[in-house]
Parts: sequence; structure tokens; C-alpha cells
Amino acid sequence: MSLYDDVARILIPEDVLQPRVRSLAEEINQVFTDQDFPLLVCILKGAFVFLADLTRHLTFRHEVDFMVISSYGSGTVSSGVVRILLDLERSIEGRHVLIVEDIVDTGRTLDYITRNLRTRHPASLRICTLLNKPSRREIDVPLHFVGFDIPDEFVIGYGLDFAEAYRNLPFIGVLKPEAIARER
Ligand code: IMP
Repeated sequence: MSLYDDVARILIPEDVLQPRVRSLAEEINQVFTDQDFPLLVCILKGAFVFLADLTRHLTFRHEVDFMVISSYGSGTVSSGVVRILLDLERSIEGRHVLIVEDIVDTGRTLDYITRNLRTRHPASLRICTLLNKPSRREIDVPLHFVGFDIPDEFVIGYGLDFAEAYRNLPFIGVLKPEAIARER
């Protein structure tokens, strides 16, 4: 029994995912210059794999920093409660900031993060998300770079977890209902 046996189907295979990460980086390369020296804010834990691949396709000078946000617990439905568990190392005042997120679902997490970061007066604030579930949106957040729009399904892999597992899968997949039921 391997974690691969829990996958009902692959939604975005690796050979589709990787070229899109590269083309997304090319879109971002059009926007920033070395002089901007933007700060990429990776939202942990989910975005760590995406950031690691994305950053290596970026051609301008940039810095990375991390925020740990908790919004889910171990379920598949957002609790709606967002907490910052680890904050940025330094001030972002006057900096160009690009938030790097794994997935936007209801929009609550990003709404909270962007409102929080705006109070710190960055020069600009943009959002890059690998995945977007538009049908689930409750709060409208402006997304500047989107990898894939996906249907309303709970997905795992490429950094995304269910109950902290499956982040290491190299594709985006959908879990079997019995794998979800085991955690309940
Ligand atoms: P939102 O606040 O509802 O937009 O949810 C955003 C956060 O919920 C993401 O950063 C993920 O950590 C988590 N999330 C939302 N949908 C999924 C999913 O399908 N799989 C895994 N995590 C998800």
C-alpha cells in the first residue's frame, strides 16, 4: 500500500505542470526588473514546492521570505479562521512584493494576507497562485498570475496536503474518498 494508491486520478500531470510553471515565470519576468529587487513571499506550507521551481525560472534579482499561515486544520473545508504562525523576517515598506500561493479557494486566506501586508506599506503587492478554484470564491481577491483554473475538487500533491500528507507527489491529484474518510 503506497500513498499513490490513495490517488483517484491525476488532474494535472507533471509534464503539464512543469511547462506551465516555466511559462508563468516568463510572465513574471516581463513585470519585474533587477532594480525592483522584489520580495517573493511564499505562503507555507503549501507553496514551498511551487516556489522552489518558480524561483529557478526567474531571471531578475529577487529575495524570498516565508509566512506560515494556518487556515484549515486537517479537514478539506476551510474553517474561515486565518492565523499567522510565522511572520516575515523584515519590513516590506517601500518594497515590491509578490505573494506566491499554492491555491486560492474561498479567497479568505489571501484576503487576510493582502490586507495585513498592505498595512505595512509595500511599494506594490501582487499575487501569483499556482491553482485557482473560481467556483468556490467568497471574497474577491485580485490575482495577477494564475497557473491553472481547476474545478471544485479537493486536490493534493506538488506541495498541497491532506492532513499533512501527499505534499511530495510530483503532480496535482484528487484523493479517493476512502483516503479522506480514513482521517475522519
Ligand atoms: P482559502 O482561504 O479558502 O482561499 O484557502 C486557501 C488555503 O486552503 C490554501 O492556501 C490551501 O492551503 C488550502 N486549500 C484550499 N483548497 C485546497 C485543496 O484543494 N487542497 C489542499 N489545500 C487546499
